[in-house]
Amino acid sequence: MNALAGKHIVLGLSGGVACYKSAELTRLLVKAGASVQVVMTEAAEQFITPVTMQALSGRPVYASQWDARAANNMPHINLSREADAILIAPCSADFIARLVQGRADELLSLLCLARPIERVPLLVAPAMNREMWAHPATRRNLAQLAQDGATVLGVGNGDQACGETGDGRMLEAAEILEELEIFFAPKLLAGEQVLITAGPTFEAIDPVRGITNLSSGKMGFAIARAARAAGAEVTLVAGPVHLPTPRGVRRIDVRSAQNMLQAVDGQAREASIFIATAAVADWRPASSAEHKIKKDGSGQTPQLAFVENPDILATVAQSERARSGALYCVGFAAESENLLAHAQAKRARKGVPLLVGNIGPATFGQDDNALLLVDAEGHRELPRASKDELGRQLVAEIARRLGGTVSPTFAR
Ligand code: C5P
Repeated sequence: MNALAGKHIVLGLSGGVACYKSAELTRLLVKAGASVQVVMTEAAEQFITPVTMQALSGRPVYASQWDARAANNMPHINLSREADAILIAPCSADFIARLVQGRADELLSLLCLARPIERVPLLVAPAMNREMWAHPATRRNLAQLAQDGATVLGVGNGDQACGETGDGRMLEAAEILEELEIFFAPKLLAGEQVLITAGPTFEAIDPVRGITNLSSGKMGFAIARAARAAGAEVTLVAGPVHLPTPRGVRRIDVRSAQNMLQAVDGQAREASIFIATAAVADWRPASSAEHKIKKDGSGQTPQLAFVENPDILATVAQSERARSGALYCVGFAAESENLLAHAQAKRARKGVPLLVGNIGPATFGQDDNALLLVDAEGHRELPRASKDELGRQLVAEIARRLGGTVSPTFAR
């Protein structure tokens, strides 16, 4: 399950143009299964109305410490006790200073101060002009805020509402959501170094043509996201795909199978888990023409000769580190039929402890998939779900195997 499902988030808005992003953030949080209680400062109400935030969160917004709706007339106590986390987004320079000073003369800072500090984490997503962001007072305040136990999210870089360009934009709503998911996810892979291949490879015929495989990279990227959220250090070796890099993940872009092998080879010496999701081209043209091969009008087609590409997974799985158990290898198989038999055969052929099968044509380019896990104990289906959900489930399955316990529902 998504780490945010069932969580109750108090979303505090302080004053800033970035309040418009908090509307989208509320939508994303609700979609992820969280309940959202919006609390706004007076300044925030200059930028977005409580009407919008109430409509998106489905709950009346709180804005005053004198709000008499609560029977005990103590909204700062009630709101802070109910929360699984308090997230201030946008968090203005002024509001950061107020948190650092422990000010309590309006509802949002009051409830932050009143929260049970051991149980209710505070996260802030700063938003301000680049000069304010760079100012020694802000640097000092942020360092103090982190020392006081708050999680300070980063900022974006780019055009600012004031017309200047630089650091200080609030992260995008989707980025904040990802940070929150990372924050809440169980740290099943803490201390692990995970290496993942994803996407297709592209084997050049000439400078404008090549052969490739169908693969969007979405499954591998989802696993990278889940592994990162589970506390691992993740390196993602990606073939040519059009996907944003998951937050906190180190990405190495490659093109051909040979490039991919080279990148993997370097990283596999450090990794403790290798997950090969890439759809590596089995063959490459024996030689790649230096210039575009021209159609000369004769009707003659070019004669292409192919050579086999290295099997990256099998190469890594045969390495000393993998054989000694220091590196746990997971392979994928994209099949079109007879999944179990093909996956079992592939697991033996590649020499990996865990092989994950999926039906390629049913998942290529899509956001969901269904997986069949095959290991020495037997097999287990992970039914159709989003690739993000399956990524989380696969990470949990790998963590369980590394921890030495096998799922009770694993079928022989
Ligand atoms: O043999 P096949 O391509 O079906 O094997 C699929 C598995 O092997 C996947 O995990 C894929 O990433 C990996 N593989 C590889 N290098 C290749 C071919 C496949 O790492 N050249």
